[in-house]
Amino acid sequence: MLDWYDAHARDLPWRVPPQSGENADPYRIWLSEIMLQQTTVVTVKAYFERFTARWPTVHALAAEEDAEVMGEWAGLGYYARARNLLKCARAVVAEHGGQFPQTEAQLLTLPGVGPYTAAAVASIAFQQPAAVMDGNIERVMARLFAVDDPLPGSKPALKEHATRLTPMARSGDHAQALMDLGATICTPKSPACGICPLMRACAARKAGIAAELPRKAPK
Ligand code: ADE
Repeated sequence: MLDWYDAHARDLPWRVPPQSGENADPYRIWLSEIMLQQTTVVTVKAYFERFTARWPTVHALAAEEDAEVMGEWAGLGYYARARNLLKCARAVVAEHGGQFPQTEAQLLTLPGVGPYTAAAVASIAFQQPAAVMDGNIERVMARLFAVDDPLPGSKPALKEHATRLTPMARSGDHAQALMDLGATICTPKSPACGICPLMRACAARKAGIAAELPRKAPK
């Protein structure tokens, strides 16, 4: 996955180029991951650029008036996210000296930071071997291991698979590689198995059922 990522990573404004030796900025990673919940990458890019131009650090954001931030958020929807965004920025400044905490457990104590965001920030910004689970990664795991049980009941099993695959080094790049794979190749419909870097390992492809997974429990 890391070789594939080095060659094919999407160029996104919160990422540093793989293998550049630069460290990802925890503030930018946190902000992007909050924005990316319930909003597409294409939409988030422009908002992310405006936010980081106006408030380049967590200190700048924490010191801003609520109404200014809410105004810049307009159009992204889910305004509770924006209110929690400010609460979180202020908590990082007031309670953590302006430095984001580095472990999943500490990140989870911040306002608006749930299991997904905590794992994403711990792995992408701090290189902790946390398994990041989102819809894309769940789909990749369901196919790679031909998990036939339906979602949402299969989530713990999918997370176990993802945890086992998470490398100690470059875990953030590994997670983002799986996200990119899910977004561009291992897509919900008509996955492009013929160009997939996991083609030879994929149990669902072998069984000819990649496009059918993950199954969903009837509502
Ligand atoms: N979706 C959510 N987080 C992402 C990330 N870091 N890269 C690509 N897509 C994402």
